[in-house]
Amino acid sequence: MYQFDDVIDRNGTRSLKWDDRRRFFEDRDVLPLWVADMDFASPPCVTEALVKRAQHPIYGYPSKPAELNQALIGWMKRRFDVEVKEGWLATVPGIVPGLHFAIDALTEPDEKVIVQTPVYQPFYQAVRNRGRQLIENPLIEVDGDYQMDFDDLRRKIDEKTRMLILCSPHNPVGRVWRKNELMTLAEICLEHDIIVVSDEIHSDLVYEKGSHTPFYSLSPEIADKSLTFVAPSKTFNLAGLFSSFVISPNARMLRQFQVAMSRTGVEFINMFGIEAMTAAYQGGDEWLDQLLVYLRGNADYIRQFLQEHVPQVTMRVPQATYLGWMDFRQLGLPPAEIKRLMIHEALLGLNDGTGFGEAGAGFQRINFACPRSTLEEAMHRLERTFQPLG
Ligand SMILES: Cc1ncc(COP(=O)(O)O)c(C=O)c1O
Repeated sequence: MYQFDDVIDRNGTRSLKWDDRRRFFEDRDVLPLWVADMDFASPPCVTEALVKRAQHPIYGYPSKPAELNQALIGWMKRRFDVEVKEGWLATVPGIVPGLHFAIDALTEPDEKVIVQTPVYQPFYQAVRNRGRQLIENPLIEVDGDYQMDFDDLRRKIDEKTRMLILCSPHNPVGRVWRKNELMTLAEICLEHDIIVVSDEIHSDLVYEKGSHTPFYSLSPEIADKSLTFVAPSKTFNLAGLFSSFVISPNARMLRQFQVAMSRTGVEFINMFGIEAMTAAYQGGDEWLDQLLVYLRGNADYIRQFLQEHVPQVTMRVPQATYLGWMDFRQLGLPPAEIKRLMIHEALLGLNDGTGFGEAGAGFQRINFACPRSTLEEAMHRLERTFQPLG
């Protein structure tokens, strides 16, 4: 059994989440439950591979071993029962840079790119920074759950609309899109010649086995009009190694993507990333299965704690991700006040919902990938501040 209850001190390890607390929250005592990495040790097979490589004292330009692609191909087969061919793969230092390259490669400067909001902030930035028009297709909230709004999507598409960036599973709302939802989305996009870029960085972190469908696996026609990004960075806590994959059976689109990447001078991924990805995808299954049980327990704990102690704040257990979307709207406070109370009274460092777009007003995103004892401390801090306001 892996020990997810162990509290590992990350202070002084050059951790954005822990060491930069003053910069983000003006306070060193804030308990940080924000940026999406985990306070758990990566799988031992990863650490062993990294230590082994680090012991060889030459860190020159890396070659890409055949085992790397094979490791991902095996992983996708075991976890999602889908085929990936070697020629469909390219590596990229990160999914966020990958989104920029995809926009550059596959759209023109005056064209429109759709995102489904509220959503991970860098989606907005990627579209805007590449000088494309951002179109929002807001998710609809039904009884605390979120759905795609296909009518709104159809209304907003015009001849300038070239791309949709899908977050699958969705950050921050935690939805795993069902196959029929993805099919409807894909059919609308195919009909209007819109390329779908599917960011599947959270796809390994689903709580119901088999519930996630890789976008490119929906049909050969859909695969031909899409790019799918996957990475071990969330799954195995490797975000600092900057290594991910893009998958597309469309050789021309994949080539265009690689050209856009090399035009900015990006050719390689990190050498340690190669070692870590290979080891994780080859040998991380059992660790991940245990992690998911632990994370699910954390999500249940938060939901129940809130229900019992702070019922005016609610959180659904997400279908995927270790990110909880906590709803503070019943308190009737302005978002800025919720944020202030959270940071300066509760001393908790969460992500304010407005960072994900307008629809995030009144929400806070909590990262529950931490030992249960850390979470218990967080919930008690939250209770002390917010319970009396209800
Ligand atoms: C949806 C989504 N995409 C991408 C990233 C980050 O990707 P990368 O670090 O590979 O750029 C995150 C991190 O939280 C995320 O939630």
